[in-house]
Amino acid sequence: MLNKKKIVVAITGASGSIYAKLLLDNLKALQSQIDKVGIVMSDNAKEVWRYELGNDDYDSYGFDFYAKMDFNAPFASGSAKYDTMIIAPCSMGALGRIAHGISNDLISRAADVILKERRKLIAVVRDTPFSLIHLNNMKALTEAGGIICPANPSFYSLPKTIEEVAQTVVDRVIDLAGLEKESYRWND
Ligand SMILES: Cc1cc2nc3c(=O)[nH]c(=O)nc-3n(C[C@H](O)[C@H](O)[C@H](O)COP(=O)(O)O)c2cc1C
Repeated sequence: MLNKKKIVVAITGASGSIYAKLLLDNLKALQSQIDKVGIVMSDNAKEVWRYELGNDDYDSYGFDFYAKMDFNAPFASGSAKYDTMIIAPCSMGALGRIAHGISNDLISRAADVILKERRKLIAVVRDTPFSLIHLNNMKALTEAGGIICPANPSFYSLPKTIEEVAQTVVDRVIDLAGLEKESYRWND
């Protein structure tokens, strides 16, 4: 499908399942701009989602859902031409594996593929504070062409709810992914 995006969404076990939920909600609403969404989650991501959001709704979106060791997933190969990968939230463990090319599960392999194909990798990293190891891994990922988009909400749009606060991060991710969506624009 010409010009429509093929997107991998990887969800890892950092705090901030709300970012993944809002991202999936947004992608669902933007489906006219999207050819495919493939989702892959780590085991810890499922645990954290259940703990923070109180449900197992991550596979209820009608998107293609892949097991974390399913290397038959299309985006495990560059030939499938997925153009964008978003890791939200991105744990420090996943960041480290990707920064060091350790492709031992579908998440790290898909990221490896996106980087080698010079396509767009957006990592919504979440932890605080950061160690030098974390910062060096972010530097390595940036040097390899990836985008570090930290799960740092902004407040200049005067968000009122937790969802509105978290959406300030997801709005930046949607912009970075090249999708068109109405959202708060400073002084617009
Ligand atoms: C409730 C909860 C919150 C967590 N928050 C973070 C976090 O914000 N950042 C992080 O790097 N790891 C966090 N962790 C730890 C990761 O889940 C853990 O390092 C795990 O090995 C990551 O594996 P994954 O990258 O395969 O998901 C959290 C764990 C739990 C249970």
